[in-house]
Amino acid sequence: MMSKLALLGGEKVKNTPFPEWPVYDEQERQALNEVLESRVWWRTPGTQTLAFEQEFAAYHQSRHGIAVTNGTAALEVALMALGIGPGDEVIVPDFTFVATASAVLFCGALPVLVDVRPDTFCISPKLVEAAITPRTRAVIAVHMGGHPADMDRLLHLTRIHNLALVEDSSHAHGSEWRGQKVGAIGDIGTFSFQASKLMTAGEGGMVVTNRDDLELRARSVHDCGRMPGEWFYSHFQYGSNYRLSEWQGAVLRQQLRRLDEQAAVRTRNAATLNQALSQIEGILPQALDPRCTRNGQYALIFSYDRRAFANITTERFIQALNAEGVPTQASYPPLHELAVFKNGEYRRRLSPEAAAQDHAFLKGAFPNSVKAAWETVWLPQPVLLGSEEEMGQIISAIKKIQYYARELA
Ligand SMILES: Cc1ncc(COP(=O)(O)O)c(C=O)c1O
Repeated sequence: MMSKLALLGGEKVKNTPFPEWPVYDEQERQALNEVLESRVWWRTPGTQTLAFEQEFAAYHQSRHGIAVTNGTAALEVALMALGIGPGDEVIVPDFTFVATASAVLFCGALPVLVDVRPDTFCISPKLVEAAITPRTRAVIAVHMGGHPADMDRLLHLTRIHNLALVEDSSHAHGSEWRGQKVGAIGDIGTFSFQASKLMTAGEGGMVVTNRDDLELRARSVHDCGRMPGEWFYSHFQYGSNYRLSEWQGAVLRQQLRRLDEQAAVRTRNAATLNQALSQIEGILPQALDPRCTRNGQYALIFSYDRRAFANITTERFIQALNAEGVPTQASYPPLHELAVFKNGEYRRRLSPEAAAQDHAFLKGAFPNSVKAAWETVWLPQPVLLGSEEEMGQIISAIKKIQYYARELA
């Protein structure tokens, strides 16, 4: 008899696709056409990217926004604005996309990796405190999957130790901590508009800050070391060309207009899913801290315990879920397991003194990061734009896999 599981030839739970991403309509088409016909396609004399910076910064309750080419560039610009350089250390979560750490290496500084909390998968403030040395200059919090890191404790810690607090908000457009939008709660924050993100122009990034001094430096760094009002060919500090094009600025203005409406749908669907998922043995949704007043919900993340699924691996469970018609996105590998840290290549970016040191943290245990990497399942954000019925189909698919799990064992 044929199995009921789609992976073994049975019928899929879901035969129709989830909503397509990215979302666009006549607004984007018209905005792009206006840029085309204006013949102003680059930022410097343009109006679109400038307006987008102002609109996005205002939306995130931040005084300044500097649009850049991507989220990695945003981190590089933010760290350069803070003056991070060789000999410095920056504390970074072990569980994040590589850019959070590689931007530190770009500056010639050492990313000191610490474990995350087991419930929210965000950086552990307790471990941040333990990792502070006289060389520490900054901490980068990542709002994982849209859930803000514990900003109360991180703000307190960074204040008393005189460190900068950077918010990597690449997942967290519109997320809030105690009613305040993320990004500029700390000293400086960054966003990504890469294709998978909550709003996108294919690529793109943003730096936000409430500090005028950091805005001035970031703006200069992102534009070849220029200074506002000075001659075009005068360059006052090291900088590069991180400018966002007018095409992207124009598209992102339209994407921002759609964010609140989409966020409301994602929030509603995430609540439905989390409620139903928490009833399934072996499934534990990412925790929602009561101080998180809005989760932008870049993904719906849940922990998977194979013991409740006839011991089938996370990978096999994901294959079965995909076969049922439910898409997933990969979790991140722990940074300390990446080749660049294992093979010592990262040392080539450091000062000679720092390169010669023993970086004991790389040999440490990161149990929560390892679990978050290999024992979680991620439903991508476009899935959360689906209907209530579609959320029910996701739950049915998981229950079906659990029921027939022994056939996959
Ligand atoms: C947490 C995090 N930081 C940084 C980045 C880098 O953004 P980008 O891909 O736009 O360079 C991403 C996304 O890719 C990310 O998920």
